[in-house]
Amino acid sequence: MNRIQEQFPLLKEKVHGKPIVYLDNAATAQRPVSVLKAVDDFYRHDNANPHRGVYELAVRATDAFEDARKVVAGFIGVKDAAELIFTRNATEALNLIAYSYGLNFLSEGDGITISIAEHHSNLVPWQHVAGVVGASLDYLYLTDGARISDEEIAAKITEKTKLVSVAHISNVLGVQLPVEKIVKRAHEVGAIVVLDCAQSIPHFPVDVEKLGVDFAVFSGHKMYAPLGIGALWGRRDLLEKMPPFLSGGDMIDSVEEQVTTYAPIPQKFEAGTQDAAGAVGLAAAVKFMQEIGWEKITRIEHELMAYALEGMRQIPHVTILGGDIPANERYGAISFLVEDVHPHDVASILDADGVCIRAGHHCAQPLLHHLDVYATSRISFAVYNTKEDIDAFLESLKKVRGVMGYGA
Ligand SMILES: Cc1ncc(COP(=O)(O)O)c(C=O)c1O
Repeated sequence: MNRIQEQFPLLKEKVHGKPIVYLDNAATAQRPVSVLKAVDDFYRHDNANPHRGVYELAVRATDAFEDARKVVAGFIGVKDAAELIFTRNATEALNLIAYSYGLNFLSEGDGITISIAEHHSNLVPWQHVAGVVGASLDYLYLTDGARISDEEIAAKITEKTKLVSVAHISNVLGVQLPVEKIVKRAHEVGAIVVLDCAQSIPHFPVDVEKLGVDFAVFSGHKMYAPLGIGALWGRRDLLEKMPPFLSGGDMIDSVEEQVTTYAPIPQKFEAGTQDAAGAVGLAAAVKFMQEIGWEKITRIEHELMAYALEGMRQIPHVTILGGDIPANERYGAISFLVEDVHPHDVASILDADGVCIRAGHHCAQPLLHHLDVYATSRISFAVYNTKEDIDAFLESLKKVRGVMGYGA
């Protein structure tokens, strides 16, 4: 094991008597000891309900939670930490925007534009908003293999478009959407842009201010943090005019029998007891990544991508989705098909060798319909993966058709 792998206790476990080769990082990554320890330390030493007490322990819990906010805000280039709202995950953050912004600031005849490559989390909430307010839901289709053309951007983001919400990286294809061009066009027509960073945040620096987007969301668990903590960043002026998404304790300024005034951001959007231990774990995950550094993270993951693509291209009957897109334009994930074999069978055969991969529709059914496939197998990388992991995957993959009774 190398020095990065050593930090991940789960990678020392075995499945079916075989060492674990974990290649399902786009679904969720594993956690390093530093993150596990940060969560453990919070519960052992600082646990109390944040923002709800004046005694020493409650102050410590509040400070830990608010310090975590500053770390996470800084990680995505946000100077004003109050603009960073903790959520359970990217899905909750997207729903917050849809319910609070979408339902209140979009109206009949407006257009919402998303891409066909969206995860259901960034699609179903917009279907709901479009249905309730009478807006249209327009799709940016992949017009050139796995890319979105300039013409498509011009045709689908128009004067009627009021909100554009796209993934930074597709969780199925592992390719980056042309965010810069989308933001430019959206702002030209006066639309706001929501960026779903769930699949980009573990792989390269995300600076929301440089990207020029209006909202950004992500989940902690795909970037080595605990399950159940994520974040929403939004421009202060937008967050301030939006009504609360959830209401109750912690998000109020004052409550009378018939009326309530709300707390300022971020509390206005953080109703109820927050997952302070999760936030502390997320800040520890940020520090874990910062200690390795982006230069090393991107180099390791790019080498894995190039190595895996090269190996897979040499295996007969294996088709890679978005095939001609080069390694340097792909991040994190590769979806593929093995001729005649259902992706679930591929995943089960690999599982017997200890290789964990995802199979199915990846919560992106409209994309798979658009690509004319019903399911795919997917490998996805994290910074702890190695060429040995890819070799184990390739060896297992070579056996798949034989196990299913087909020739080479
Ligand atoms: C691009 C993208 N967006 C959103 C999500 C939703 O993340 P979560 O289930 O953590 O809310 C995912 C999860 O895989 C994703 O890949």
